[in-house]
Amino acid sequence: MTRRAIVAANWKMNGDLTLVDTMVTGLKNMQLQKNVNVVICPSFILLSELSNKANKQKLNKAIHVGAQNVSEHKSGAYTGEVSTDMLNELSVKFAIIGHSERRSYYQETSRQIAYKVKAALDAGLTPILCIGESEVERATEQTETILSAQLQPVIDEVGIEKFIDVVIAYEPVWAIGTGKTASSEMAQETHQFIRQFLASANEEVADKVPLLYGGSVNASNCDELFAQPDIDGGLIGGASLNVEQFKQICLAAKGK
Ligand code: PGA
Repeated sequence: MTRRAIVAANWKMNGDLTLVDTMVTGLKNMQLQKNVNVVICPSFILLSELSNKANKQKLNKAIHVGAQNVSEHKSGAYTGEVSTDMLNELSVKFAIIGHSERRSYYQETSRQIAYKVKAALDAGLTPILCIGESEVERATEQTETILSAQLQPVIDEVGIEKFIDVVIAYEPVWAIGTGKTASSEMAQETHQFIRQFLASANEEVADKVPLLYGGSVNASNCDELFAQPDIDGGLIGGASLNVEQFKQICLAAKGK
């Protein structure tokens, strides 16, 4: 079995032109392990600059540009939204979809997220679909129910076969930006559940889908997390704003 590893940077509403420059320069000669992709997801307005700089500096072809969100609509009167065609025009290859901050602050529902995943796939973009439970949900043993309820509408919308082109990021909400990482055992156990859930629909697809862990990943805990059999990389928030730290995380990833 070969499954690629992915390290994705989620800059959230942080970063500027200077960080784009520092990041591209910093990652220029990075020697990634085999079968590893790196994705940098800055805010929409920095995508063009990042794409241009990456191209000009001839960044490793395994390093891609990603967006943090995308509209489920093709075009039209949707003020403030960004379409898949617009992303494609800027050579964006990935889109984070359904991040817990989108779900909680912008009321994105699992149904809407399913439409976004479909729009991304239809346009040839790779969705990084985020799922994860809250602290209360974990404490009341609802983690598996919540994750299933977040995954099922997407499976229903796009079909399990299409998941071959989907990346899933498991991000326990209580671990995001809090410094409280899930232990590697807990993360592995949950990743295994997610893979089994997918396998109950299609084993072959489940074997291939990269499952990323997200939530306070940093240069000190990434080795242990990435060594777990069902963890295929990470979605990195805070630590992705520091070039040296992000680089170390990228170098720790390897395909399985
Ligand atoms: P964090 O964020 O690494 O700062 O916890 C991860 C994320 O929200 O994707």
